[in-house]
Amino acid sequence: MISRGESGRALKIGVLTGGGDCPGLNAVIKWVVRGALDEVNTQTRGRSFEVVGIRDGWRGLLDCQLESGVDQAGLVVPFTGSESVRTIDRKGGTVLGTSRADPFSFGEAREDHSSRLMRNVELLGLDGLVVVGGEGTLSVAHRLSEAGLPVVGVPKTIDMDIAATDYSIGFESAVAVIMSGIDSLRTTAGSHSRIFIVETMGRYSGHLALQGAIAGGAFMVLLPEFEFDVEAVARRLERRRDRGMRYAIVVVAEGARPVGGTYITQGDRPDSFGRPVLGGIGAWLQDQIEEISGYQPRSVVLSHLQRGGSPCAFDRRLGRLFGLAAVELIEQGAFGQMVAWRDGRVDAVSLELALATRNVVHENLYDHQRYRPSYRALA
Ligand code: F6P
Repeated sequence: MISRGESGRALKIGVLTGGGDCPGLNAVIKWVVRGALDEVNTQTRGRSFEVVGIRDGWRGLLDCQLESGVDQAGLVVPFTGSESVRTIDRKGGTVLGTSRADPFSFGEAREDHSSRLMRNVELLGLDGLVVVGGEGTLSVAHRLSEAGLPVVGVPKTIDMDIAATDYSIGFESAVAVIMSGIDSLRTTAGSHSRIFIVETMGRYSGHLALQGAIAGGAFMVLLPEFEFDVEAVARRLERRRDRGMRYAIVVVAEGARPVGGTYITQGDRPDSFGRPVLGGIGAWLQDQIEEISGYQPRSVVLSHLQRGGSPCAFDRRLGRLFGLAAVELIEQGAFGQMVAWRDGRVDAVSLELALATRNVVHENLYDHQRYRPSYRALA
């Protein structure tokens, strides 16, 4: 049931991407556009849709200057037809651009500009807005939804920390980057009999580090969910060498912490969502292992490489399903919902539920003593 818009006129859908980019975002955009404009869908629903893209996430909706009736800042991009998005799903990043802007705490002064954003949505005549984002962007969507904005969320984050969905766009592509990084490092590690420490993203959830370590066959992996004892890590590396192994790969998530320690951050300045900017645990671990064991490990920070490149097959396929499902939720007037992947199919959950908790690594999946994935599959 379409609940908004005057009958007869086309419903106007906006789509934006916010937060850190990742492969798969363009697939979502493509299939929002195609699902909305498709002739068969139009006939079935008895209503035509038009779609506009908003550039640069929430910042685009704040900075588009619409009072004069014209989008002078060029932040609103009409999608004229299915052909305009035909090839975008093969490319990484987002054709719409992104930002980490928070309308409730905007600009240097960190002031609440949410009413300006609501006014712009009204001037644009949006009947529904698809917001593709991670925790920060979707939290804003949830607050705005409570204030009356007709939003539908789509989860994307390589950290995969959003709850109530078994998958978030970008994750599998990022795991593939970690795997291929480890594959490349392994040959030089073997040649030089070296320990390599590979720092991955993963602020508060270790899914990315854990699955990247599994795919790459790393010796150890350190996760944000479970503090580690650096002495024990060094001793395990020594034992491995004593057994005649020439090299070792240790994966560490950026949010991993030693027992009693704090997050290692890049300076004191938080990001636009007020969160610490993490990074540096790999270098810290390198120094500690050298001090304890006398080895000379090398650390590599995979950083934004993990968010780069073209999407893997799964992100293209899930991006398609999520984009189509988002349009269907708008058709139904099911605002304040997020599309989700649950039990092997697409579903919808409330943004409230999705943001109430965080999707973290379950302790059964991790061997705390050995700092490696557990050797259990069914438990
Ligand atoms: O999207 C979340 C994330 O992948 C975090 O793991 C990481 O801390 C952050 O992005 C870094 O992103 P940026 O440098 O773009 O702010």
